[in-house]
Amino acid sequence: MLSRSALRTTSRFSVKRQTLALAAARQSTWAHVQQGPPDAILGITEAFKKDSFDQKINLGVGAYRDDKGKPYVLPSVRAAEKAIVDKNLDKEYAGITGVPAFTAAAAELAYGESSAPLLENRIAISQTISGTGALRLGAAFLERFLPSKEIYLPSPSWANHAAVFKDAGMTPKQYKYYNKETISLDFDGLVSDLESIPQGSAVLLHACAHNPTGVDPTPEQWRKLSEIFKARKLFPFFDMAYQGFASGDIAKDAYAVRYFVEQGHQVALCQSFAKNMGLYGERVGAFSLVTESPEEKARVDSQLKILIRPIYSNPPIHGARIAAEILTNSALKAQWLQEVKDMADRMISMRHLLKKHLEELGSKKDWSHVTSQIGMFCYTGLSGEQVDRLAKEFSVYGTRDGRISISGITSGNVKRLAEAIHEVSK
Ligand SMILES: Cc1ncc(COP(=O)(O)O)c(C=O)c1O
Repeated sequence: MLSRSALRTTSRFSVKRQTLALAAARQSTWAHVQQGPPDAILGITEAFKKDSFDQKINLGVGAYRDDKGKPYVLPSVRAAEKAIVDKNLDKEYAGITGVPAFTAAAAELAYGESSAPLLENRIAISQTISGTGALRLGAAFLERFLPSKEIYLPSPSWANHAAVFKDAGMTPKQYKYYNKETISLDFDGLVSDLESIPQGSAVLLHACAHNPTGVDPTPEQWRKLSEIFKARKLFPFFDMAYQGFASGDIAKDAYAVRYFVEQGHQVALCQSFAKNMGLYGERVGAFSLVTESPEEKARVDSQLKILIRPIYSNPPIHGARIAAEILTNSALKAQWLQEVKDMADRMISMRHLLKKHLEELGSKKDWSHVTSQIGMFCYTGLSGEQVDRLAKEFSVYGTRDGRISISGITSGNVKRLAEAIHEVSK
């Protein structure tokens, strides 16, 4: 039998143990999870929202805006939606690789109707969760089947690229792309980097409208790159998020992809219909691989399905049906092509207006890059400090790397924007 003092000690211990157990129980399973850094672009939107000035300008947005600064739903998309509703379709699951009418039309749009691998049934293609999903599926495929686990990204590149490849188990590296001094393509640096990258590595190429710089290789430079890829046995992984949206011409924007394919490269291709159809939130995209034969295509297809199935089983159908409706109905497709051109033309005209105003204000700087760059983004060459001044003194919001979204410029705000840029860049 225990003495009274021993009993007291035992009960003191058991109280302590209970208290510890309670404290442990109160400690959350996620107590060790650290606060992550906020997304840089969302931070700009937050700052923009907080600004009460009625003439504030948001140049951080990654989506098209009309000349009133409003989100834009393409009339061809509205018409396609109505046609789909009128068909009274069911809501059954799509197959693992998506809506077949969509993937067939997406491949034809990218590769061109006379593309040899398309006519020979050598393109393995899957619908994806927009362009990001295409990148992620592509990254997973490389990780599983490409002997090299390295992918080289242009410096700079779209902010999400490195994270997508890293999370899929690939090792993202960089190659030279942009020359800060000349505000243009560092073609010599690009060539010399490609010539020293280990053979067999994957190299990501922005097919058109490079994000964030707006600087693309010329057709002649693309041809040279194709030769280097062949000689160095590099694997071309194209990201085409802006087909048609860059120049207003679907074929022109697909030049690099189609040329590489013509030259016999077995490319990988990520497509997005977020920008060129304005289907941002519908998440419509595709990932494809050019293969050697229909038999190889079937094997690759089977492995794409094996990768997709445990992630999301099969993709959503509504947006893909809209895109398929547009691409397979000749009248709607013609209407859409005009609407894409109108969006591209509006952005091109804003570039010209911005440059014109800067020159009229007497800016001594060379602003030719504003019009020579292409697509939704312009790398202005402004420093982080100058961007900070734009926000603080003029309520103009862009990213600190000097990137501005051309879609945030309208005929109503371009003059004020030019004045602000001129003031901080004097
Ligand atoms: C270069 C590039 N790739 C891919 C994407 C992916 O876009 P989404 O997933 O919306 O199709 C974007 C979007 O801004 C982009 O700029």
